[in-house]
Formats: sequence, C-alpha cells, structure tokens
Amino acid sequence: MDIAIIGTGYVGLVTGACFAEVGHRVVCVDSDESKVRLLQGGGIPIYEPGLDELVRANVAAGRLRFSGSVRDGVEEALVIFIAVPTPPLPDGGVDLSFIEAVAREIAGCLTEYRIVVDKSTVPVKTGEKVAETIKRYCKSRVDFDVVSNPEFLREGFAVQDLMRPDRVVIGARSPRPVQRLKELYAPFQAPVIVTDINSAELIKHAANSFLALKISYINAMAALCEASGANVQEVANGIGMDKRIGRAFLDAGLGFGGSCFPKDLSAFIKIAEQLGYDFALLKEVRNINAQQMDRFIRKIADTLWVIKDKRIGVLGLAFKQNTDDVRQSPAIEVCQRLAREGAILRVHDPRAMEKAKALLPDATFVEEMNDLAEGCDALVVATEWPEFKQLDLDRARRLMTHPIMIDGRNLFDPNEMERLGFIYKSIGR
Ligand code: UDX
Repeated sequence: MDIAIIGTGYVGLVTGACFAEVGHRVVCVDSDESKVRLLQGGGIPIYEPGLDELVRANVAAGRLRFSGSVRDGVEEALVIFIAVPTPPLPDGGVDLSFIEAVAREIAGCLTEYRIVVDKSTVPVKTGEKVAETIKRYCKSRVDFDVVSNPEFLREGFAVQDLMRPDRVVIGARSPRPVQRLKELYAPFQAPVIVTDINSAELIKHAANSFLALKISYINAMAALCEASGANVQEVANGIGMDKRIGRAFLDAGLGFGGSCFPKDLSAFIKIAEQLGYDFALLKEVRNINAQQMDRFIRKIADTLWVIKDKRIGVLGLAFKQNTDDVRQSPAIEVCQRLAREGAILRVHDPRAMEKAKALLPDATFVEEMNDLAEGCDALVVATEWPEFKQLDLDRARRLMTHPIMIDGRNLFDPNEMERLGFIYKSIGR
C-alpha cells in the first residue's frame, strides 16, 4: 500500500523505514528542505541503531523516498500519517500549531478519499479538531477519515520497538478506515486494539505517565532503602517478579529525562486540568523526579565536601543509553549544576558529545573512556551506557587524586568497588 508520512523526525523516519521494510511504498515528507536533501543524499539526521541500514536498503529497493511537498504525498498515498512535532508550551500545554498547519495543507490537496492518521502524541480530542479543520479547509466536498494511531517507540530502541510492537492501537470513528490500517500493520504480526479516537489518544498519555510513575515509585523506594540499609535493586527484583508489576522501568537512578516523559507528563497534567480533574498523583511523579536530581547533587556534595575547583569526570551525557539525544538529559543537568558550583568538568559519552558541546562550553570532552579519570577528584556516572561497566577501574584509581565514584545509574557493584579501594556511592544501595 502507498503511504505518506508528514514529518521525518524520530517517529516519522523510523515509521517510514519500517513500513517500507515490510513491503509498503513510502514517501517521507518534510518542510525542512535541508533535511530532505540530506536524506535524499543518503544521510541520516538522527542516530537510531539499525536505522541507517534500513533507510539505505529501502531507498535502494525503491520502496522509500523523500519529498519536500505535502501535495506530492497526498496525491500518491491512500494513508497519510501526521508525525510532526507537538512541542511543549511554557504553561505545560501542547503546541498543536504544526498539527493544525499540516491538517490545513492536507485539506488543500485532497481530491479523493484519503485516510489521515495522527501518529504524533496529542491531547485527547485533537483527532476531532483535525477532522473539523480538514472539513473546513477542503476545497471541495471530499470524503476522508481521521484515525489516531499513537506510537510507543523508545529512543535508542525505536526500530526494534516498531518491527516487534507489543500492540498496535487504532482509534477511529467509523469501521471504514480500520481494515486498511489493519492491512498496513499485518506484516508486523502484533495484536491490534481497535477503539474510538479519544481512547486511542488517551492510551498514549496514560502509558507514558504510568511508565514515569514506575520510575518515580522506585526512586522513592530508593530513598527508603538508603534510610533503612536495604538494597533497591533487590526490592525491584522482588516486586518485579510479580507479573502484575513487571521488572521493567524499575531501575532507580537519576530519574527520567528525554524529549518524551517530562513533556508528556506535564501535558497530561494540563490536559486533566482542562478536563476538570486535578491529577495530583502525576504532579507527585514529577516532584519525585525533580527531588531525585537534588538528592544526587547533595550526595556528590556530601562525598566531596567542597565542589568548587574539584576536577570531576562525568560518564554519560545522553538522556539514556543507546541514543545521542541530550534533550532534557539528567546527565547534562548534573554537569550544569556541578559547573555552576565551580567544578572543573571532564566528560565522556559514546555518542552524545557532539550534541552536548554547545551545552557545556567549559567542559573538557574526552574521546577515550579510560582517559576520563586523569587528574580527577571524583567520577560521576550519569547515563546507563552498558560499556561504562568495562571501565578500567585499576587505571582509573591510578589516574585519580583519590578513588571516589558517585554512580547515578547503579552500574557498578558496591562490594567490588569497596574491594578495589573506592569510596563508592550509588542510588538506594
Ligand atoms: C519513552 C517511552 O518509553 C516510549 O514508549 C514513548 O514512545 C516515548 O517516551 P524514551 O523517552 O525514548 O521513550 O525513553 P525511555 O526508555 O522510556 O526512558 C525515559 C527515561 O527514563 C530515560 O531518562 C531513562 O534513563 C529513564 N529510566 C528508564 C529510568 O530512570 N529507569 C528505568 O527503569 C527506565
């Protein structure tokens, strides 16, 4: 089937490449001409494991192409996905101007039946507004359907999350577009939930805020473990083996960041408010996350006493492992707070250093992980990159003024660190 995807960001490009991979013909549209040219020239604007091979193979196979024109997409494809940004507004609400602009542009090009699918994360009842907008700006009386089809892609795992989705959610007002969407997703062999548009839109915010709740819950548990001499990883394992709870997203640490959780959580709190419900539970999820950062900085200060002029090596800059994305990264927040206290920073990240340079102008960026410790008074682990576990601790101890590590992601083993002579602090253990 022919598909057009408007917006080639993390969601649009990955979705387009995966749809092409399973045999559909896809045109990915973007208003950013330079991004379209980069993609047409074989470049990939974002890092996602496996994405570059997927894009190249499908462009070569003639199933995937890029265009700067919405009209081009609307004329060619029966199903048009909207995957443009829905950035946060200062008051925590959602900026829907890109969605509205694309809906109007699609309306202007409609000449025959089309299925317009909203994949962007949007407040509940947006689908209704998209339908009204297309109806209003349509030049002639043309038939169309609007569908909500939220994405559940984790950055750094987006390709695998889409190639093997836990479920596909389809929200529609009538059965007509549902069959087409089911055909589209059939090759992924995933369970399909068909519901109304509003429920589909709520499922997205409900899922993300529940995942954030799990993280804040285990971080609150970590505070209790530190106060009671318990081990939060043991507690997480113990409750996580209950299949009603599940072990995933119970890793205590620096708290959640990224371009989704913080934004979606604030948006959902705002949406609830606008619907007349005070979502106090989610406000507390957000508070616990903010406190987690304060507790971590205090842990560093308690360990080092004076932070000013201390040379601190920070392992990790991305908001989580497997990505180069530093948007709302807790690791960047740690660096900026330490720098404000006068610390002299040496930083290393396997992928995110380029994107972090603008945010940390005074830091020394160290290419080799095992060179980071040179001359440092302490090491701080800020991102859960698995390769950090291979750090040469003997060499680090020799290079440091004193072997001190404050581990914000519980990557190292407390007993092993003690045996190696480190002063080692971590989260909830
Ligand atoms: C999230 C959702 O998982 C995804 O379904 C949605 O489509 C987009 O938002 P993402 O933000 O890419 O994906 O990253 P995710 O893997 O969910 O992690 C978010 C944050 O939580 C990261 O900062 C991560 O370090 C942190 N985290 C995650 C924890 O602190 N503990 C955990 O156990 C898991």
